[in-house]
Amino acid sequence: MSEETSSVKYYSLAEIAVNDGTNGNGTWIIYKDNVYDVTAYLDDHPGGGDLITEWAGKDCTKAFDDFGHSGDAKKEMKTMKIGEVREEERKKEAEEERERQREGCY
Ligand code: HEM
Repeated sequence: MSEETSSVKYYSLAEIAVNDGTNGNGTWIIYKDNVYDVTAYLDDHPGGGDLITEWAGKDCTKAFDDFGHSGDAKKEMKTMKIGEVREEERKKEAEEERERQREGCY
């Protein structure tokens, strides 16, 4: 479905970045091109709010997966989805792979 006709809300990376929990803004995070509003969840996070606010307005995919969250955690995350990253601003898979390799190669 094209961006125009889909009911999914698309956000630019700049719009998402503004929601970094400062200046009275909410806290949004990106996980695998989906956008989540975790403002109300911070106090409930078993790992504490700070671990999430570190990624406020940014892509937490690697940090989230590196911890190895449970299926329940992923289900919980889904309930907070508010939209997706604009298609033209998504990372290409090849680029993500290169980043992973760089990070693993000290
Ligand atoms: C919407 C986002 C998130 C949700 C819904 C979520 C949910 C959860 C849940 C349910 C647990 C308990 C263990 C489990 O079920 O896996 C947990 C633990 C944990 N989470 Fe998250 N999490 C989120 C984001 C993050 C992020 C971005 C980080 C960054 C590193 C993180 C780090 C951790 C850590 C370290 C624990 C272990 C806490 C402990 O056992 O002391 N989480 N999370």
